[in-house]
Amino acid sequence: MKAIGYSEQGPVSVAGSAVEFETSDPQPGPRDLLVEVRGVSVNPVDFKVRANRPPPEGDPKILGWDAAGVVREVGGDVTTFQPGDEVFYAGEFTRDGSNAQLQTVDERLVGKKPSTLSFAEAAGLPLTSITAWEMLFDSFGIREGEGAGEALLVIGGAGGVGSIMIQLAKKLTGLTVVATASRPDTVEWVKKMGADHVVNHRNPLNEEMAAIGIAPKYVAALTGTEGHWDAIIEMIKPRGHIGMIDDPASINWQALKMKALSFSWEFMFARSLHKADDMDAQAALLNRVSAMVDAGDVFSTVSQNMGALTVENLRAALTHQNGGAAIGKTVLEGMS
Ligand SMILES: NC(=O)c1ccc[n+]([C@@H]2O[C@H](COP(=O)([O-])OP(=O)(O)OC[C@H]3O[C@@H](n4cnc5c(N)ncnc54)[C@H](OP(=O)(O)O)[C@@H]3O)[C@@H](O)[C@H]2O)c1
Repeated sequence: MKAIGYSEQGPVSVAGSAVEFETSDPQPGPRDLLVEVRGVSVNPVDFKVRANRPPPEGDPKILGWDAAGVVREVGGDVTTFQPGDEVFYAGEFTRDGSNAQLQTVDERLVGKKPSTLSFAEAAGLPLTSITAWEMLFDSFGIREGEGAGEALLVIGGAGGVGSIMIQLAKKLTGLTVVATASRPDTVEWVKKMGADHVVNHRNPLNEEMAAIGIAPKYVAALTGTEGHWDAIIEMIKPRGHIGMIDDPASINWQALKMKALSFSWEFMFARSLHKADDMDAQAALLNRVSAMVDAGDVFSTVSQNMGALTVENLRAALTHQNGGAAIGKTVLEGMS
C-alpha cells in the first residue's frame, strides 16, 4: 500500500515531515478490522508528535488519528463489523496511523460511519467527539438530560474539540453553554455550534464571565489553559470541576483547594493505551454520535477540505491546523 509518514523530527516545514512511501499491507489481528481509508483529518497531536519524537528506524512513521473508510477484512474474533461496513474511528496512539491507503484498528474503538456524511466529513468527528464525550460524561460525570441551572464554559470553543463539545452539551444536557472565541469568524462559528453565550478569551475570562453574570460549575479548559488558570479559579463555582486536555508547562494546583474544586485530565488515548476493560466505550459513544448526526441532532464540524491525501495537501492541512486559528476541523479525502 501507499502511505505518508515522517522520517525527520521537527516542524511541518522540515523535508522529512511528510514522505510518501510504499509498504506492505497491514495484517489484521484477532480483534482488528482492516480498513480502506477514504477520509482523514488532522489534529494538534500530529504536529506535537512530529516535533517531539524522533521517528523509529526503518520506514517513515505513519501518523494520523482520525479516519473514515470501508472494512475490507476482519480478524477471527471480530463480532461487530463485517467486510463492506462503513466505519469511523480515531485509533490508537502506539499503532500506525490513518495517513495510508489501509489501516488496522481494534473493533472496540470503531463506530459506524454516519450515513449522511461523506467519508472526509465523517473523519472530522472521531478524535474530538471522544475527547468531548469523555470529558462531559466520564470526567465531569454529567448525566444525559441533567445539568439545568448550571453552566459549562468551553475555552477554545471554535477549535476541533470545542465545536463538538458545544453541540453535545446542548443536545444531551440541560447545561447553559458559554463558549470563548476572539474573532468575528469564530464568534459566528460557536454560535452556529449552539453556544448560548460567547465571551472573548483575549480578555480576562473572569471579567468576561462576570459581565454576563454567569459562574460556571464546569470549565472545559481546551486551549491556553496556563494563561486562563487564575481567571478560571476566580470565576468557577465552589465545588466546581475543571477538565483539561492541553499541555501547560506549570499549573498552581494549590489554587483548587479553597473552593474544593475537582480537576480531571482528559486523554482520549488513555483507554486504548492501557487496554482498559471498557475500551469499547469508545465504539459505543461513536455509534451514539453517528446516530445523532443521522438524526440531524449533530452536524459536521468540518470547515476545510484540503483535497486528496497527498504530501502537499497534508502539509497544507497541518500548517493550517498548527497556525493557532483553526476553526472546527480540517479534513482530506483518502489516498488515490
Ligand atoms: N488530551 C486529549 O485527549 C486531547 C484531545 C484533543 C485535543 N487535545 C489538545 O487540546 C488542544 C485543543 O485542540 P483542538 O483540536 O480543539 O484545537 P484547535 O482546533 O487547534 O483550536 C483552535 C482554536 O483555539 C482558539 N484559541 C487560540 N488561542 C487561544 C487561547 N489562548 N485561549 C483560548 N482559545 C484559544 C482559537 O480561537 P480564536 O481564533 O477565536 O482565538 C481557535 O479557534 C490542543 O493542545 C490539542 O493537542 C488533547
